[in-house]
Amino acid sequence: MQLTIPELRQARNPTTFVDNMRLPVHRWFRYSAGFSAEFVRSQLEDVDEATVLDPFAGSATTLLATQFGGWESIGVDPHPFVSRVAEAKLSWTADVSEFESASSLIASTARPKELPAELPSLLTKAYPRETLKELLGFLAAVESVDASEEVRRLLWLAFVAIVRPTSPVGTAQWQYVLPNRTKATSMTPADAWMVQTTMMAADMAEMQATRRVVPPARFLAEDARLERPEIPDAWASHVITSPPYANNYDYADATRLEQSVLGEVSGWSDLKEIRKDLVHACSQHMSGYDTDEALAHKALDPIRDELLPPYRRLSELRLERGGRKAYHSMIVAYFLDLALVWQQLRRVVAEGGTACYVVGDSAPYGVHIPVERWLGALAVDAGFADPRFEKTRDRNTKWKNRKHRVPLHEGYLWLRG
Ligand SMILES: C[S@@+](CC[C@H](N)C(=O)[O-])C[C@H]1O[C@@H](n2cnc3c(N)ncnc32)[C@H](O)[C@@H]1O
Repeated sequence: MQLTIPELRQARNPTTFVDNMRLPVHRWFRYSAGFSAEFVRSQLEDVDEATVLDPFAGSATTLLATQFGGWESIGVDPHPFVSRVAEAKLSWTADVSEFESASSLIASTARPKELPAELPSLLTKAYPRETLKELLGFLAAVESVDASEEVRRLLWLAFVAIVRPTSPVGTAQWQYVLPNRTKATSMTPADAWMVQTTMMAADMAEMQATRRVVPPARFLAEDARLERPEIPDAWASHVITSPPYANNYDYADATRLEQSVLGEVSGWSDLKEIRKDLVHACSQHMSGYDTDEALAHKALDPIRDELLPPYRRLSELRLERGGRKAYHSMIVAYFLDLALVWQQLRRVVAEGGTACYVVGDSAPYGVHIPVERWLGALAVDAGFADPRFEKTRDRNTKWKNRKHRVPLHEGYLWLRG
C-alpha cells in the first residue's frame, strides 16, 4: 500500500521502519534502525530524473524505494551484517523458481545439528537446546546448498530473518535480547522458514511482474567517511539518508543475536571489530579514542565554540554518574565523523542537488545537543547551502521511566548542493 504525501505527513511515525513491514521486499528483514520507504518515495514523486545516494544505507530502504520508483541509486554502509542484508534484498530480481526449489530442498533436508560444547551465553539464554539444534541445522543446509550467487544471498537472508521469530524470549524490536521476557508466540524453525521463504518468493514474483525496467542499485559495503572513488564526481541529484544518531545506539550490538547464531560473534571483543568502520555514536565505541586530536581537527571549526561547553559539562557529569559513560568524547567524535561524510558528499553531489538527512537530537546525561543545527553548520562549511529543518515529531515527551526530561525531536534536515 502506498500513502499519499499528506497521509504520510500525518502518519504517526514517518521516519521509522514500521510501515515497511507491509511493503514487498522491504519487509524481508525487520531492521529496527531503518526508516520509511514511503518517505523516500515522497521525496522523488515530482522529479523528472534522479540519481540517489544514501551514505548510511543500512538495509537498503532508500535503494529499493528508488529502484522501485525507476531511478538509479548507490548506497554505502560498512556494517558487515547489515550490508549483507541490503545486498540480499537487492537480489529480488533472482530466478524465483530457483529460489523456491532451493528453499524447499533446504526445508526437506535440514537436520538438527549437534551443539558445540561451548556456546555464547546469549544463545543459551535465547533458545531451548532443541530449537537451537534445529536452527543450526537450517544454517548448515543453507551454507551447503548448490545455487547461484544471488539465490544463495536470498537464502542467507531467509535464514537470518527467522533467528528472532524462533526465539521464545524477548528479542526486542530495539537492540537488546531480554532473556527474562517471553514472547506471545514463537515459531519452530521449520514453520518460520516456510513462512519467510513463501513471502519472499511471492514478493519476488510480484515485483518482477510489475517492474519491467529495473535501474541499477549499487551497494558499497564501505565507510562513508572515506573517499569513495566508485562514485563519480557530481553523480547524485539527491542524497536521502538517515545517519546514526548521537544517542548511544550500538549498531554492533544491535545485530549480535543474528551474528552469534551465524558463529561470527562470540563475545564483546568481536563487537569491537564490527565498530571499527562505523561512525562513533555510542559510548562503548570510545576506548582509545584521541579526543584532543579530534577536537583540534579543522573540520570542527564551525561548531567548536558551541561544542566545548557541553563537552566540558559531560566530562564533569561522567564523574558523578555510575556508568561513567564517555559521552563527552562521543559527541566530539560523532560530529567529526559526520563532518568528514559531508566533505566526501560535496564531491559526489551535483550543483543544485538536494540532500535530506532524517535526524534527531539527543541529550546524553540530560545535556542537550542541537544535532540538526550543528550538522547544518558542518554541511555549509563543506560547501552545501541553505540548511532547513522540518520537525516531524517530538520525542521524550512522556516523562515516565526516562533518564532525563529534555524534550527532543526528530525531522528532516535539507541542504542544497
Ligand atoms: C539510521 S541507520 C540507516 C538505516 C537505513 N535508512 C534503513 O532504512 O535501513 C544508520 C546506518 O548507518 C550505518 N553506518 C554507521 N557508520 C557508517 C559509516 N562510517 N559509513 C556508512 N554507514 C555507516 C549503520 O551501519 C546503520 O546501518
